[in-house]
Amino acid sequence: MKIAIVTGATSGIGEATSRSLINAGYQVMLTGRRVDRLEALAQDLGERSAYHVTDVTSRQDMTALVEKTIQTFGEPNVLINNAGVMPLSFFASRKVDEWDQMIDVNLKGVLYGIDAVLPYMLGQEDGHIVNVASIAGLQAGPAFGAYSATKFGVRALSESLRQEVGAKNIRVSVISPGTVQTELFGTITDENVLSVIQAGFDYEPMQPQVIASSILYALDQPNSVCVSEIVVRPTGQV
Ligand SMILES: NC(=O)c1ccc[n+]([C@@H]2O[C@H](COP(=O)([O-])OP(=O)(O)OC[C@H]3O[C@@H](n4cnc5c(N)ncnc54)[C@H](OP(=O)(O)O)[C@@H]3O)[C@@H](O)[C@H]2O)c1
Repeated sequence: MKIAIVTGATSGIGEATSRSLINAGYQVMLTGRRVDRLEALAQDLGERSAYHVTDVTSRQDMTALVEKTIQTFGEPNVLINNAGVMPLSFFASRKVDEWDQMIDVNLKGVLYGIDAVLPYMLGQEDGHIVNVASIAGLQAGPAFGAYSATKFGVRALSESLRQEVGAKNIRVSVISPGTVQTELFGTITDENVLSVIQAGFDYEPMQPQVIASSILYALDQPNSVCVSEIVVRPTGQV
């Protein structure tokens, strides 16, 4: 039975992906910081799931997470690096602490996740790392500066990793979603951005399950096939 770790499993894309992994027969280690959410989800998903409270910005937490996974299920075959925050802001608003937070969670969190699982995957000569980026990692725009920088970064490091470890039978996939209806927009504090977001979108945002299905598509391919990038967006989103 395959073993997957999902970061940011407490809501949105991570929660939907965890449900899909359970349905596909995986054992799933759920992670995030909100213990009440983790407890409730683990109870709902049953005995093939377990949880470990983890802050992805902490190297110690990420190492402890993998150790807990090994004790509970065995060495992980799959890591879904999904945890993220998106406090969009205009540069003139000078929300430097939020830039730091995005770098810590979206970029360093992904690197720490890779560091924590890679020794085991290299040892097994088997593994699949899925990094959740964004269409903001393909195209920058106003208010997206720091967020886009982290997501361009995730795509860059993923491509580098893919080229390094493919020969060891380790696959690396990047999923770049457009707008998904989740709690992510709740991390925005810049009033000038909030007023634009609150005005709504002129297209229908995707549901998290759409992204979960894309991730499962990449995982479902034979070991000899690496889906290196998937971009999926609402039909009306430019
Ligand atoms: N929604 C979109 O439109 C969209 C579009 C493109 C890409 N994405 C990407 O999709 C990923 C998932 O986002 P989502 O839309 O599902 O948003 P979400 O519902 O807000 O979920 C974000 C998850 O990240 C976790 N998280 C945040 N900071 C963390 C930290 N320091 N340590 C551990 N976990 C942390 C949260 O868990 P806790 O709060 O419990 O820690 C939560 O489970 C993100 O990487 C995001 O950038 C989303």
